[in-house]
Amino acid sequence: MSRSATDAAARVRSLNGGAAALAYVKVFGCQQNEADGERLRGMLAEMGYGFTEDAGLADVVVFNTCGVRLHAEQRAFGHIGAAGREAVIRRKRQIVAVCGCMAQLESVRETLKRSYRHVNLVFGPDDLHRFPELLYGALTEGGRHFHETSSGAPPDAEEGLPALRTPPAKAEGRAFVTVMKGCDNYCSYCVVPYTRGRERSRAPEAVTAEVKGLIEQGYREFTLLGQNVNSYRPGGGGEIADFPDLLAALAGLDGDFSLRFMTSHPKDASDKLFAVMADCPKIAPHLHLPAQSGSTKILAAMNRGYTREHYIALTERARAAVPGLNLTGDIMVGFPGETEADFEETLELLETVRFDSLFTFLYSPRPGTPAADLPDDTPMEVKKARFQRLLETQRRVEG
Ligand code: 5AD
Ligand code: SF4
Repeated sequence: MSRSATDAAARVRSLNGGAAALAYVKVFGCQQNEADGERLRGMLAEMGYGFTEDAGLADVVVFNTCGVRLHAEQRAFGHIGAAGREAVIRRKRQIVAVCGCMAQLESVRETLKRSYRHVNLVFGPDDLHRFPELLYGALTEGGRHFHETSSGAPPDAEEGLPALRTPPAKAEGRAFVTVMKGCDNYCSYCVVPYTRGRERSRAPEAVTAEVKGLIEQGYREFTLLGQNVNSYRPGGGGEIADFPDLLAALAGLDGDFSLRFMTSHPKDASDKLFAVMADCPKIAPHLHLPAQSGSTKILAAMNRGYTREHYIALTERARAAVPGLNLTGDIMVGFPGETEADFEETLELLETVRFDSLFTFLYSPRPGTPAADLPDDTPMEVKKARFQRLLETQRRVEG
């Protein structure tokens, strides 16, 4: 933790005066949010908080939210609203904090301001490392604190934040390790570049030290996290210049462990990556390679930066290079302008690529993204029927 975060944590600890203050942390969404949740818990422990599974009993309630789809947003609002009712029933004075991607969306901030008046601390994913200081402010000043993000926090801002992980025995030896933050791809449907900011890579020495420490603690399976791990570029002119280099270096550490990683963007996954996967027995032969669509026209409208042909050729090279490859993907149905013919190309892609398993999504328009302004004349019933056909096709492929 930085000097100012450590000082703020100590101030919160003395504010609580050694009393058994309790915190409740609820995480929605992706694995990066889970990893951030571990650090929120770590910082709370550092500030002297114990933990409760009952939000109504907590002095500090933290919702680490996901804004990728409307459904996730609605679910989080449901939990945030319930916390407010609970506090009224129990007459408890709480700090209710909302962080994560939703906290960065203007539309959400407006709704929180207007209709969720018990929420008194809001901060975005890029301010994670400032949590002790922001919490101290909310505890001492009262009122409501909606922090504008300090986006552009230096790459090492989060180094040394304590993470409270599930102990190895309970977590089946699994741990997440963030290798990079943010996303520069601006897929036209996605909020992440707006909520998590620009891409920043962690120093390879910091990642290596973290993995070494976790091996010593007894963890045995590491998932390296980044929105797009293949754009990992630590700079600095060292030997580790890109993600395959980092993977190879980590796989060379002593100990009995395995490595996984996600997510790989099809425009950046390389033959070098596949060669490293094939060479290192410690790297699980698993590639998560979101396709999104099988139609080159829709991929262009999504600003994905590759064609259907590129995607298919890439998966063929990956399968040829990595024996026993487990290939998984994401597919989105109902993007604005998707015609029946486009959708059939997606079904054909499933038959050609034969994913070992698939994550499927119905397109959800997100405020502030370019796709939200595109004309969309496909009725919802048609989109839902396509979604069912997608599931059936994948079920047949998995057989
Ligand atoms: N609507 C539906 N699905 C989305 N995803 C990202 N943004 C949206 C959206 N607006 C999906 C993509 C991505 C996965 C993590 O979530 O398929 O790969
Ligand atoms: Fe969103 Fe695209 Fe970045 Fe993934 S690569 S986080 S889908 S903008």
